Amino acid sequence: MPSIAAVADVHCHEHMRGQLAETFRDVNDRADVLVLAGDLTSSGQLSEARELLLELRPVSIPIVAVLGNHDYEHQQYDQIYDMLKASGIHVLDGEGVELELGGERVGFAGTKGFAGGFGRYLLTGYGEQVIKDFVLSGIIEVEKLERALSQLQTERRVAILHYAPIRETLSGESLELYPFLGNSELSKPIDNFGVEVVFHGHSHYGSRFGHTKAGIPVFNVSQTLVSTYHLFELSERMPAYEAADE
Ligand SMILES: [Fe+2]
Ligand SMILES: [Fe+2]
Repeated sequence: MPSIAAVADVHCHEHMRGQLAETFRDVNDRADVLVLAGDLTSSGQLSEARELLLELRPVSIPIVAVLGNHDYEHQQYDQIYDMLKASGIHVLDGEGVELELGGERVGFAGTKGFAGGFGRYLLTGYGEQVIKDFVLSGIIEVEKLERALSQLQTERRVAILHYAPIRETLSGESLELYPFLGNSELSKPIDNFGVEVVFHGHSHYGSRFGHTKAGIPVFNVSQTLVSTYHLFELSERMPAYEAADE
Protein backbone atom coordinates (compact mmCIF):
# COMPACT_ATOMS: atom_id res chain seq x y z
CA MET A 1 0.00 0.00 0.00
CA PRO A 2 1.25 3.51 -0.74
CA SER A 3 2.86 5.32 2.19
CA ILE A 4 2.65 9.08 2.57
CA ALA A 5 5.10 11.14 4.63
CA ALA A 6 3.55 14.49 5.51
CA VAL A 7 4.78 17.57 7.34
CA ALA A 8 3.84 21.25 7.39
CA ASP A 9 5.35 24.46 8.73
CA VAL A 10 9.01 23.67 8.11
CA HIS A 11 9.56 27.47 7.85
CA CYS A 12 12.86 27.09 6.04
CA HIS A 13 15.52 29.83 6.31
CA GLU A 14 19.26 30.17 5.78
CA HIS A 15 20.30 29.61 9.39
CA MET A 16 18.85 26.14 9.65
CA ARG A 17 21.05 24.64 6.96
CA GLY A 18 21.19 20.85 7.16
CA GLN A 19 18.30 20.48 9.63
CA LEU A 20 15.63 19.58 7.10
CA ALA A 21 17.97 17.37 5.13
CA GLU A 22 18.50 15.47 8.39
CA THR A 23 14.73 15.29 8.98
CA PHE A 24 14.22 13.74 5.55
CA ARG A 25 17.30 11.50 5.75
CA ASP A 26 15.26 8.27 5.76
CA VAL A 27 12.10 9.41 3.95
CA ASN A 28 12.97 7.71 0.63
CA ASP A 29 13.05 4.34 2.38
CA ARG A 30 9.90 4.86 4.44
CA ALA A 31 7.43 6.54 2.08
CA ASP A 32 6.36 6.69 -1.56
CA VAL A 33 5.62 10.42 -1.55
CA LEU A 34 6.44 13.45 0.61
CA VAL A 35 3.65 15.96 1.30
CA LEU A 36 4.58 19.50 2.40
CA ALA A 37 1.48 21.29 3.68
CA GLY A 38 2.50 24.93 3.51
CA ASP A 39 4.66 27.48 5.36
CA LEU A 40 7.58 26.04 3.46
CA THR A 41 9.61 29.21 4.05
CA SER A 42 10.06 31.36 7.12
CA SER A 43 8.99 34.64 5.54
CA GLY A 44 8.31 34.04 1.87
CA GLN A 45 11.69 35.15 0.51
CA LEU A 46 13.21 33.65 -2.62
CA SER A 47 16.48 32.98 -0.78
CA GLU A 48 14.54 30.82 1.69
CA ALA A 49 12.88 28.89 -1.13
CA ARG A 50 16.31 28.29 -2.65
CA GLU A 51 17.51 27.04 0.72
CA LEU A 52 14.51 24.70 0.93
CA LEU A 53 15.41 23.20 -2.44
CA LEU A 54 18.93 22.53 -1.19
CA GLU A 55 17.52 20.79 1.88
CA LEU A 56 15.20 18.69 -0.27
CA ARG A 57 17.95 17.54 -2.64
CA PRO A 58 18.37 14.13 -0.96
CA VAL A 59 14.62 13.43 -1.36
CA SER A 60 14.17 11.23 -4.42
CA ILE A 61 10.48 10.30 -3.96
CA PRO A 62 7.86 12.65 -5.49
CA ILE A 63 7.06 15.78 -3.46
CA VAL A 64 3.58 17.33 -3.43
CA ALA A 65 3.20 20.73 -1.75
CA VAL A 66 0.91 23.67 -1.12
CA LEU A 67 2.04 27.12 -0.04
CA GLY A 68 1.14 28.63 3.35
CA ASN A 69 0.55 32.16 4.60
CA HIS A 70 4.25 32.61 5.46
CA ASP A 71 5.12 31.92 1.83
CA TYR A 72 2.98 34.97 0.93
CA GLU A 73 4.68 37.41 3.29
CA HIS A 74 6.96 39.12 0.73
CA GLN A 75 4.49 39.04 -2.17
CA GLN A 76 6.82 36.64 -3.98
CA TYR A 77 4.57 33.61 -3.84
CA ASP A 78 4.31 33.43 -7.62
CA GLN A 79 8.08 33.22 -7.95
CA ILE A 80 8.28 30.68 -5.11
CA TYR A 81 5.58 28.62 -6.80
CA ASP A 82 7.48 28.75 -10.13
CA MET A 83 10.82 27.97 -8.52
CA LEU A 84 9.53 24.88 -6.70
CA LYS A 85 7.62 23.74 -9.75
CA ALA A 86 10.70 24.10 -11.97
CA SER A 87 12.60 21.87 -9.56
CA GLY A 88 10.05 19.07 -10.05
CA ILE A 89 7.92 19.60 -6.92
CA HIS A 90 4.18 19.25 -7.58
CA VAL A 91 3.04 22.56 -6.07
CA LEU A 92 -0.74 22.66 -5.98
CA ASP A 93 -2.70 25.91 -5.96
CA GLY A 94 -6.20 24.75 -6.81
CA GLU A 95 -4.85 21.92 -8.93
CA GLY A 96 -4.69 18.15 -8.82
CA VAL A 97 -1.92 15.73 -9.67
CA GLU A 98 -2.08 11.96 -10.12
CA LEU A 99 0.90 9.84 -9.14
CA GLU A 100 1.74 6.15 -9.41
CA LEU A 101 2.65 5.13 -5.86
CA GLY A 102 3.38 1.63 -4.65
CA GLY A 103 1.56 0.16 -7.65
CA GLU A 104 -1.53 2.34 -7.20
CA ARG A 105 -2.70 5.54 -8.81
CA VAL A 106 -3.34 8.21 -6.19
CA GLY A 107 -4.72 11.70 -6.82
CA PHE A 108 -3.67 14.73 -4.77
CA ALA A 109 -5.74 17.91 -4.67
CA GLY A 110 -4.25 20.94 -2.97
CA THR A 111 -4.72 24.57 -2.16
CA LYS A 112 -3.62 26.89 0.63
CA GLY A 113 -7.05 27.39 2.18
CA PHE A 114 -7.87 30.39 4.33
CA ALA A 115 -9.19 31.61 7.67
CA GLY A 116 -12.78 32.47 8.56
CA GLY A 117 -13.89 30.21 11.39
CA PHE A 118 -16.03 27.17 11.85
CA GLY A 119 -19.63 26.01 11.62
CA ARG A 120 -22.24 28.39 12.92
CA TYR A 121 -19.55 30.87 13.92
CA LEU A 122 -18.09 31.15 10.42
CA LEU A 123 -17.58 34.80 9.52
CA THR A 124 -20.14 36.05 7.00
CA GLY A 125 -19.55 38.67 4.33
CA TYR A 126 -21.71 41.43 5.76
CA GLY A 127 -20.99 45.09 6.44
CA GLU A 128 -17.60 46.60 5.76
CA GLN A 129 -15.91 45.92 2.42
CA VAL A 130 -12.80 44.63 4.19
CA ILE A 131 -14.91 41.91 5.87
CA LYS A 132 -16.50 41.01 2.54
CA ASP A 133 -13.05 40.73 0.95
CA PHE A 134 -11.81 38.55 3.81
CA VAL A 135 -14.79 36.18 3.51
CA LEU A 136 -14.43 36.11 -0.28
CA SER A 137 -10.79 35.00 0.09
CA GLY A 138 -12.07 31.94 1.96
CA ILE A 139 -14.77 31.22 -0.63
CA ILE A 140 -12.19 31.40 -3.44
CA GLU A 141 -10.02 28.83 -1.67
CA VAL A 142 -13.00 26.48 -1.22
CA GLU A 143 -13.72 26.79 -4.94
CA LYS A 144 -10.08 26.08 -5.74
CA LEU A 145 -10.21 22.91 -3.66
CA GLU A 146 -13.40 21.85 -5.50
CA ARG A 147 -11.73 22.50 -8.83
CA ALA A 148 -8.64 20.53 -7.82
CA LEU A 149 -10.71 17.57 -6.67
CA SER A 150 -12.85 17.60 -9.80
CA GLN A 151 -9.68 17.30 -11.93
CA LEU A 152 -8.79 13.95 -10.39
CA GLN A 153 -9.79 10.81 -12.25
CA THR A 154 -8.43 8.49 -9.56
CA GLU A 155 -10.52 6.54 -7.08
CA ARG A 156 -8.03 7.29 -4.33
CA ARG A 157 -7.84 10.97 -3.45
CA VAL A 158 -5.81 12.91 -0.91
CA ALA A 159 -6.44 16.57 -0.01
CA ILE A 160 -3.65 18.91 1.07
CA LEU A 161 -4.30 22.27 2.72
CA HIS A 162 -2.35 24.69 4.84
CA TYR A 163 -5.32 25.99 6.86
CA ALA A 164 -7.51 23.60 8.86
CA PRO A 165 -10.84 22.38 7.42
CA ILE A 166 -12.17 21.27 10.85
CA ARG A 167 -11.81 22.63 14.38
CA GLU A 168 -10.95 19.32 16.02
CA THR A 169 -7.30 19.47 14.94
CA LEU A 170 -6.97 22.92 16.54
CA SER A 171 -7.68 21.63 20.03
CA GLY A 172 -4.90 22.96 22.24
CA GLU A 173 -4.75 26.38 20.59
CA SER A 174 -6.35 29.44 22.22
CA LEU A 175 -10.03 29.61 21.30
CA GLU A 176 -9.51 33.23 20.24
CA LEU A 177 -7.20 32.01 17.46
CA TYR A 178 -9.56 29.48 15.92
CA PRO A 179 -11.15 31.82 13.34
CA PHE A 180 -7.66 32.58 11.98
CA LEU A 181 -6.53 28.98 11.75
CA GLY A 182 -9.04 27.57 9.30
CA ASN A 183 -12.41 27.53 7.63
CA SER A 184 -15.03 24.78 7.92
CA GLU A 185 -16.32 25.41 4.38
CA LEU A 186 -13.14 23.64 3.20
CA SER A 187 -14.49 20.39 4.62
CA LYS A 188 -17.52 20.39 2.29
CA PRO A 189 -15.71 19.51 -0.96
CA ILE A 190 -13.61 17.03 1.03
CA ASP A 191 -16.78 15.23 2.12
CA ASN A 192 -18.58 15.64 -1.20
CA PHE A 193 -15.73 14.17 -3.24
CA GLY A 194 -15.05 11.29 -0.84
CA VAL A 195 -11.42 12.11 -0.12
CA GLU A 196 -9.51 9.38 1.70
CA VAL A 197 -7.34 11.52 3.97
CA VAL A 198 -6.57 15.21 4.54
CA PHE A 199 -3.31 16.80 5.67
CA HIS A 200 -2.99 20.38 6.89
CA GLY A 201 -0.73 22.55 9.00
CA HIS A 202 -0.76 26.19 10.22
CA SER A 203 -1.92 25.24 13.72
CA HIS A 204 1.43 24.73 15.44
CA TYR A 205 -0.07 23.91 18.84
CA GLY A 206 -3.24 22.07 17.90
CA SER A 207 -3.97 18.36 17.83
CA ARG A 208 -2.73 15.78 15.40
CA PHE A 209 -5.95 14.06 14.43
CA GLY A 210 -9.62 14.68 13.73
CA HIS A 211 -12.47 13.80 11.35
CA THR A 212 -14.76 15.66 8.99
CA LYS A 213 -18.53 15.26 9.40
CA ALA A 214 -18.43 12.37 6.92
CA GLY A 215 -15.72 10.65 8.95
CA ILE A 216 -12.77 11.46 6.72
CA PRO A 217 -9.52 11.46 8.71
CA VAL A 218 -7.77 14.82 9.01
CA PHE A 219 -4.17 15.09 10.20
CA ASN A 220 -2.55 18.27 11.45
CA VAL A 221 1.05 17.61 10.43
CA SER A 222 2.59 20.86 11.69
CA GLN A 223 6.24 20.08 12.39
CA THR A 224 5.89 21.23 16.00
CA LEU A 225 3.42 18.35 16.49
CA VAL A 226 4.98 15.57 14.40
CA SER A 227 8.67 16.54 14.94
CA THR A 228 9.96 14.87 11.74
CA TYR A 229 7.00 13.89 9.54
CA HIS A 230 3.78 11.95 9.89
CA LEU A 231 3.74 8.60 8.15
CA PHE A 232 0.38 7.49 6.80
CA GLU A 233 -0.36 4.28 4.97
CA LEU A 234 -3.31 4.32 2.57
CA SER A 235 -5.46 1.37 3.58
CA GLU A 236 -6.46 -1.43 1.27
CA ARG A 237 -10.03 -0.24 1.05
CA MET A 238 -11.59 3.20 1.06
CA PRO A 239 -13.04 4.03 4.51
CA ALA A 240 -16.83 3.77 4.90
CA TYR A 241 -18.22 6.95 3.51
CA GLU A 242 -21.49 8.74 4.09
CA ALA A 243 -22.37 12.16 2.72
CA ALA A 244 -22.34 14.86 5.38
CA ASP A 245 -25.58 16.38 6.62
CA GLU A 246 -25.82 20.07 5.96
FE1 LIG B 1 3.39 27.89 10.23
FE1 LIG C 1 0.72 29.16 8.59
